[in-house]
Amino acid sequence: MAEDVSEQSTIRSEPNGGSRVWGYRYLVCPPRYFDVRYSINPWMDPNETVDRELAHDQWTRLVATLREAGAKLDELEPLPDHPDAVFTANHGIVDGHTFWPARMRHPERAAEVAHAAHWFDRNNWSVADPAPDAVQEGAGDALPFAGTLVAGYGMRSDRLAYGELARRTGWPILPVRLTDPAFYHVDVAFCPLDDRSALIVPSAFSDEALRRLRRLVPDPVLLTDEEGLAFAANSVVVGHRIVMPHCSPRLGRLLDERGFDVAVCDVSEFRKAGGGCRCLTLALDTDLPTGHGSR
Ligand code: ARG
Repeated sequence: MAEDVSEQSTIRSEPNGGSRVWGYRYLVCPPRYFDVRYSINPWMDPNETVDRELAHDQWTRLVATLREAGAKLDELEPLPDHPDAVFTANHGIVDGHTFWPARMRHPERAAEVAHAAHWFDRNNWSVADPAPDAVQEGAGDALPFAGTLVAGYGMRSDRLAYGELARRTGWPILPVRLTDPAFYHVDVAFCPLDDRSALIVPSAFSDEALRRLRRLVPDPVLLTDEEGLAFAANSVVVGHRIVMPHCSPRLGRLLDERGFDVAVCDVSEFRKAGGGCRCLTLALDTDLPTGHGSR
């Protein structure tokens, strides 16, 4: 493991000519038990049938596309009776060698966190104690952009969680309020591309949150509602490649201008649970800066 973790310090070039150390290592969970059996977001309808075989094929293709783009993937053992465990993005936040376990809002997903924490522990990460009460649904609601953790609240995570996390970690955190239940995690409405650009679905955020995001991101790529609802922001950036569940020709051009090439991976079965490509992964190579260094 130690040598795996040290891979994080490999610096690679990024489209805007800077250097990037993130985006090359992810935790994924095979969809063996994936299904829609309950409803905890507006996308989920337990009466709709999930095509298990198709889900398996789509996931396998996603994983192959990520590997082809240069990502290294670790696999979390799937958990029987936990159909959403495939969405590893929600299990916690990784900072360097430390895993900060999530606290899930819904009891249906609660047991996934200990399962993931156990994986991190077994693989030589240090596992932080979860905050006492506040709900925080992992990297699905917290994405680093240029040294700031952009943190969603108002739908699934509590704003309170970020005060607590900032105190404990020293991370610079920008809490942003989500206002549209269709965009219930920040990772369906915001996707960092590099230190200058990010995909943003404006209609997902409160006016104040959007103003803050616009101040933070020098070169935003604003998505239409239609692109947003197709989960175009729920994408995985691996170097120059952006692996997306959907990409309109307009968005393709904007990404091309910024030096990215797009790989579209249809994950329609996972959309039935409210997910795209990004939330099927948990970034393992994130390093968050500390404001006061008191980790
Ligand atoms: N059905 C899952 C849930 O509602 C989907 C999670 C998608 N995760 C995400 N980070 N967007 O929890």
